[in-house]
Amino acid sequence: MSDITVRGGRVLDPANGFDAVADVVVRKGVVVELAKPGGKASGETIDAAGLVVCPGFVDIHAHLREPGFEHKETIATGTQAAARGGFTTVCAMPNTEPATDSAGAVEFILRTAAAKGVVRVLPIGCVTKGRAGHELAELSELADAGVVAFSDDGAPVTDAALMRRALEYAGMLQTPVIDHAEEPALAAGGVMHEGWVSTRLGLRGVPAAAEETAVARDIALAETTGSRVHIAHISTAGSVELVRAAKARGLPVTAEVTPHHLTLTHEAVLTGPSEGGALAYDTNAKVNPPLRTPEDVAACVAGLLDATIDCIATDHAPHATQDKLCEFDAAAMGISGLETALALCLTAIPLEAAVERLTIAPATTLELARHVPGIGSLSKGAPGDVVIIDPEAEWTVEPETFASLGKNTPLAGRTLKGRVVATVYGGKVVYDAR
Ligand code: DOR
Repeated sequence: MSDITVRGGRVLDPANGFDAVADVVVRKGVVVELAKPGGKASGETIDAAGLVVCPGFVDIHAHLREPGFEHKETIATGTQAAARGGFTTVCAMPNTEPATDSAGAVEFILRTAAAKGVVRVLPIGCVTKGRAGHELAELSELADAGVVAFSDDGAPVTDAALMRRALEYAGMLQTPVIDHAEEPALAAGGVMHEGWVSTRLGLRGVPAAAEETAVARDIALAETTGSRVHIAHISTAGSVELVRAAKARGLPVTAEVTPHHLTLTHEAVLTGPSEGGALAYDTNAKVNPPLRTPEDVAACVAGLLDATIDCIATDHAPHATQDKLCEFDAAAMGISGLETALALCLTAIPLEAAVERLTIAPATTLELARHVPGIGSLSKGAPGDVVIIDPEAEWTVEPETFASLGKNTPLAGRTLKGRVVATVYGGKVVYDAR
């Protein structure tokens, strides 16, 4: 529990509509005030003159891999990657081994995070036992153990009747269900977006309709049950339109978009490293849902800016080198996203919008203040979670320097603008690049 004053930066706190030069004063790990700059400071000070200071980012969708896949990531390395990316909260998806489908599994994550994590970890529990899609997990046991949402992410809940029941129970538990919206019969065997690039490369594609049919089903079930459905990693113009129409009708539907779906297209599969001008087949651009067309990207950006899409989430999906260093069909899906999220978002949307959609917006989307009062804001009494950023600083993505064990990014060698300078969690500096 530490005292720290972040001095003289431009403080952006979208939750409170605050945008002015100020000192952020944290005592005993908690925000006590946004003070006029130049006042007396107690404890450690960070000079943020010329920089932007905002609430620590909140990621509602990350794969930390522990337990079970510690060669890809651990709670220690994943939270270090989060801190480097400016995130002070990460919600951990349950596709671990064992899957997070019991109170014991939740407790393991919370204990490991307390012992080895450098930022806050909020577990997400499974919808179905073992994420197998056959039988509901013990949702109320999971809620009591502290999960903030239910999801079988990595896989959809394909059985619509089971999804309906899950929504009914989750609604009673006031805990949202996050669906990886994908119709397996349409996606089967697909390894990238179905379009001209997949045709040219001779790869099987996943059509936009694989997502859109599932989003339409989820919206119908939200209407039937009155319970909230949150659509993970939305990626197509058609899905954005479905969510827009559902919201216009007042249905309880929310959605997130990843930094990569806001910025990259299916052409990234072609344009990765290659020898002698050969087509690249860049496995680092293989992700689920796949990178789509420029029109889809534009629709995701527009949807995020008009609040059809509620927030940004990284879908940080670290993999080991050998999982990607193979033929395209065999490669694992996913992008290691925590450490490039801010800079990538800033290539698509203005700073103020990015900060809002990385802080209070995700916190509100999953109603995380029920678990952590004040999260995603610099309100008096909020956790002392602060990120200091230099929106103008240019840097080159060098995956080998990532804190994440997952070096899998299609951005290697790209120069981006917008750097995290320091991250403070509960009043303690957990990342410092000054
Ligand atoms: O690309 C992805 N990777 N999409 C998912 O839904 C799961 C994730 C993973 O766990 O690797």
